[in-house]
Amino acid sequence: MRVEEIIAPVEKELAEFEQFFSSTMKSDVPLLDKVTHYLVKRKGKQIRPLFVFLSCKMFSETNAKSFDAAALVELLHTATLVHDDVVDDANERRGYFSVNALWKNKIAVLVGDYMLSRILLLSIEKQNTDLLAIIARSVREMSEGELLQIEKARKLDITEDVYFEVIRKKTASLIATCCEAGYLASGGTAHREEMRLFGEKVGLAFQLKDDIFDFGSAADIGKPTGNDIREQKMTLPIIYTLNNAPASEATELRNIIKNHNDSEPHIRKAIDLVKRNKGIEYAEQRMRSLGNEAKSLLDEFPNNEAKMALLGLVEYTMNRTK
Ligand code: IPE
Ligand code: IPE
Ligand code: MG
Ligand code: MG
Repeated sequence: MRVEEIIAPVEKELAEFEQFFSSTMKSDVPLLDKVTHYLVKRKGKQIRPLFVFLSCKMFSETNAKSFDAAALVELLHTATLVHDDVVDDANERRGYFSVNALWKNKIAVLVGDYMLSRILLLSIEKQNTDLLAIIARSVREMSEGELLQIEKARKLDITEDVYFEVIRKKTASLIATCCEAGYLASGGTAHREEMRLFGEKVGLAFQLKDDIFDFGSAADIGKPTGNDIREQKMTLPIIYTLNNAPASEATELRNIIKNHNDSEPHIRKAIDLVKRNKGIEYAEQRMRSLGNEAKSLLDEFPNNEAKMALLGLVEYTMNRTK
């Protein structure tokens, strides 16, 4: 399915969303306004609002509640990226300089906090405590996930289970929230858990794809590659290679991660070791089975245009090039 077809059922909503999203960040403080303007102009794929709108439309028409949910999840996503680039010491985002690269860490931290405050205030303004409750849960899980990841960085004996726990918290929880909140906006309640689980599985597949991107070379994904090894993040392709490569190659990879993670040629060597030992193929295979599990969770729902688009969006998540 082409991207245009995935977007088609909620095209009007996405167009209207732009303006609404940008208005949520307005501030009278000139510096804040400058940074948020920069962020709005260099928007990302906006895949999370798409999950919200389609999850609603599969059951009923979109409405004010779906717009609130879409804006809040995209605000939270943007805030976490701004903070994440400080944490990961990354100076590129969406093909441009990251906020920390342009304005330094102090400002990036405070702008992220400002966006979080906008989420709290907006959900109070809209008197939508259901939404606030599930967004707050995501905030907690995302912070826990990022911290768990730091705690487990450099731990060469990390298991696949711990890896999946990290990505479930730092990434899948927000996409789960998108699908749950989109569904709740439709007025339904009975399928809340299934929709959340659907989002969680797609979210896991989404982060697997992101972790695979880190091993790419020339492909333009708009952010640094090799950064996970540099930051000593134990992602699935690495975990697999450490556990399955011939002893000498596993030892070499271990040594690079531990002692040479700041050397460009060593990072390239580590990437080569992972590729040679099929670490990427393994992660891809896990990603595909999660995507398939997600899709089958939609089996029980009526076949309509929004459902087809949602299935297409699962595929897009796994086939995307950025
Ligand atoms: C990046 O998310 C952060 C991860 C969870 C991997 P996206 O790839 O959706 O980022 P943008 O918004 O499109 O830039
Ligand atoms: C996902 O982790 C980021 C968040 C959940 C905030 P990454 O650190 O891998 O994301 P990218 O690759 O920088 O977008
Ligand atoms: Mg990062
Ligand atoms: Mg990444």
